[in-house]
Amino acid sequence: MAAIIVHGGAGAYDPGEEHERGLKDAANAGWAIIESGGSALDAIEAAIVVMEDFPIFQSGYGSSPNLAGEIETDASVMLDDLSCGAVGALKAAANPIKAARLVMERTDHVLLVGEGADDFARRMGLESRDLASEARKELYEKALAKLRAGEDVKFLPRLKDLAADFDIDTGTVGAVAIDDEGHVAAGTSTGGPVLQLPGRLGDVAVIGAGTYANANGGVSATGHGEPIMKHVLAKAAVDAIANVGAREGIETVLEYARINEIRFGLVAIEENGAIARGFTTEAMSWASVRDGELETFLSTGDGVRRKKKGKA
Ligand code: GLY
Repeated sequence: MAAIIVHGGAGAYDPGEEHERGLKDAANAGWAIIESGGSALDAIEAAIVVMEDFPIFQSGYGSSPNLAGEIETDASVMLDDLSCGAVGALKAAANPIKAARLVMERTDHVLLVGEGADDFARRMGLESRDLASEARKELYEKALAKLRAGEDVKFLPRLKDLAADFDIDTGTVGAVAIDDEGHVAAGTSTGGPVLQLPGRLGDVAVIGAGTYANANGGVSATGHGEPIMKHVLAKAAVDAIANVGAREGIETVLEYARINEIRFGLVAIEENGAIARGFTTEAMSWASVRDGELETFLSTGDGVRRKKKGKA
């Protein structure tokens, strides 16, 4: 039954070899923990930390700057007994997913944001880091130039919509795992969209929107945060799994997202170990491991799908 699935985000990007390597490393890091009898929670944290440290993903080191040129990250984690923790608008913590876990394990709260959340992370001994990678700084400058020229900004129509030729929605990261004892954990981490307003929290900070888990299974979502929050899609997906099982449940929620024109993707594991995933965007990427078998999937913006199987 034990398994893990990780994702590198849904959007309009073109995942290449680096992206594939990051997903494989993440899935393998999580699987190594599960294989040696560790918990689903330790497994998803380890997997997400790999992706947060990998500059190609839009989370941790690799996050896109907001309108003020600063990084603000969101992350959340949830277990099948409804324990959960989240952080929002963190500026300094190197690994936001660790801060979210500490909110769950060490506080009486579910969500900490802003300076208070960064202060909490420091007090808990978490490493701080300048999270702006060179590639993201370049992306920010380009996006800002387009904005100043009066062009559109994706996801931010009121800010003058940004252009589709920027890979600006490439990838929140997330993971869901089930361990040998049948416990499910789900987690998600993001830097949010480039040029988001300072102080904006997205779906990843909100339990039920970007991350959800209960006795029926767990989900990590990715895509356009605002509609994902309005439609509470991670919780909707877990409820659908409870009603009709992982595959059909996920298809129901994806169809709902398509009808409502929501740019969205998700990975899920049901309490019986069944894995499901899907997306409504041009591209998405994921990797999963079960019984030592690693499977990777990369879909590019032009509709090319690359699926590979191998050993974990
Ligand atoms: N789904 C990531 C975000 O909108 O912040």
